Amino acid sequence: MNGCPYTPPHPKPVPDGEKRTLWKWIQRTRKSSLHTLYEGSFRNWLTVLKLPGGHRLVMPKDPADIRKVLVDKAPDFPKSEAMHIALKPLLGESIFTTNGEVWERQRRMLDPAFAQSGLKKVFPLMLDAVEDLRLRLEAYGDTESCPIGDEMTHVTADIIMRTILSYPLSAGEAHNLAAQFEKFQRKASQVNLMKILHLPPWMVPWDWVIWRFQGWRIRNLLGKIISSRFREYQTGTGGEYGDILEGLMSAVDPVTKTPFSEKELIDQIVMLFLAGHETSASVLGWTFHILANQPDYAEAIRREAEETCPDFTKVKFSEVARLKTTRAVFREVLRLYPPVAFFSRSSAGDEEFHGCPVRSGDLVNLSPYVVQRHTELWEDPDVFRPERFMGGANGRNDSGRYFPFSTGPRICIGAAFAQQEAHLIIARVCQLFEIEPVQGLVPEPVSRLTLRSENGISVKLKKRSC
Ligand code: HEM
Repeated sequence: MNGCPYTPPHPKPVPDGEKRTLWKWIQRTRKSSLHTLYEGSFRNWLTVLKLPGGHRLVMPKDPADIRKVLVDKAPDFPKSEAMHIALKPLLGESIFTTNGEVWERQRRMLDPAFAQSGLKKVFPLMLDAVEDLRLRLEAYGDTESCPIGDEMTHVTADIIMRTILSYPLSAGEAHNLAAQFEKFQRKASQVNLMKILHLPPWMVPWDWVIWRFQGWRIRNLLGKIISSRFREYQTGTGGEYGDILEGLMSAVDPVTKTPFSEKELIDQIVMLFLAGHETSASVLGWTFHILANQPDYAEAIRREAEETCPDFTKVKFSEVARLKTTRAVFREVLRLYPPVAFFSRSSAGDEEFHGCPVRSGDLVNLSPYVVQRHTELWEDPDVFRPERFMGGANGRNDSGRYFPFSTGPRICIGAAFAQQEAHLIIARVCQLFEIEPVQGLVPEPVSRLTLRSENGISVKLKKRSC
């Protein structure tokens, strides 16, 4: 579409010749996991790092090995204890970190809310939040710099609060929650690292205190809304909400015949809030940075939105599926900036990756970021080229090479939800505004719980005349 190939910002990998020690790895991890990657990480099929305590951290990159972990032998690679502990003050025993029968029950009970019918039900709530986003964006002047990364955090948090709890977020509340999550994320990443290294948490006492406090604070804030709705439901004094919380309160597990308790509901809802807004906000921020630098794609999306539904406030659920260019652009941004750039499992038994033995207890680090930029798997891997996902190539058969939402039984429960809201937001913003870069401002990718820009993401938005 655009004659000039565009390579959006990414940290330069560490040269292969540099000395590799655990200490250097720890130092780089404190900046972000992206900064630990070597040139060879994007070329070879397996990276191995020796950890204290005799275990190893292995990162397989062969799609067959990725499928082995996530699909073929998924029960042999449970979620790691380190991540469970790092997220526990906030998420408790939520579906994101549990394993075995506990996870199976939670998944059975959550799945229906995110099925096609559940999404259709919350679609009007998403549209309302997108129209509120329009009002906020229109308030920026044409020459003013708009912190689009922050605006994406606000709109995705707002969508989650409306669809899950029927609670629209004010600007002040959105800002406060985002700031608290940011603090929690930083500390949780540190605690995760300490656990991986088998180091006691008292070595970073201040981090430990803030981590627990922030987790409690966010949980308390959302917990109050959930508890009050739970009491209403139990006493039959509440109205009809039609939101996801209502669905989860009335859900009964078909196998154990039990509903969620109040504590279980809080665990799940707080997790849905975290997993459901941070991730979407991250990739949408990057999308607008790229579209500001690739106006031809923004124009193609605008045309497509106009053709699909000239009055986008009335767009129908079924019409969103027709936004093919929007979808291809979003898929390509997910390739380059997968919000969950790294996630981990532990090996429950002895295995083998690419001919190399993996022992029980080893930590298996999976990275959509690395695999989706692997030089042997993608042509011009760092170049933005949505055509990769156009003309029938939708990435569905790429399991193992393209997995921004993971794959297998633990695939992201909110993948369809996230795509629907993202397509709506991208199409609407391109329809209303010309998007331009802010000169001299280059976002710097860092990966904590999600892949964000260290210095934020801003663009200029010029209102279109009609
Ligand atoms: C662009 C947006 C999103 C991306 C890229 C994304 C990505 C992922 C990934 C990679 C995982 C697997 C993590 C692991 O196995 O360690 C995951 C799991 C999960 N995600 Fe998402 N996610 C997104 C949006 C959402 C949304 C909107 C929701 C809900 C509202 C959600 C809910 C979940 C849940 C509940 C899990 C755990 C599933 C399980 O373990 O059974 N995600 N997501």
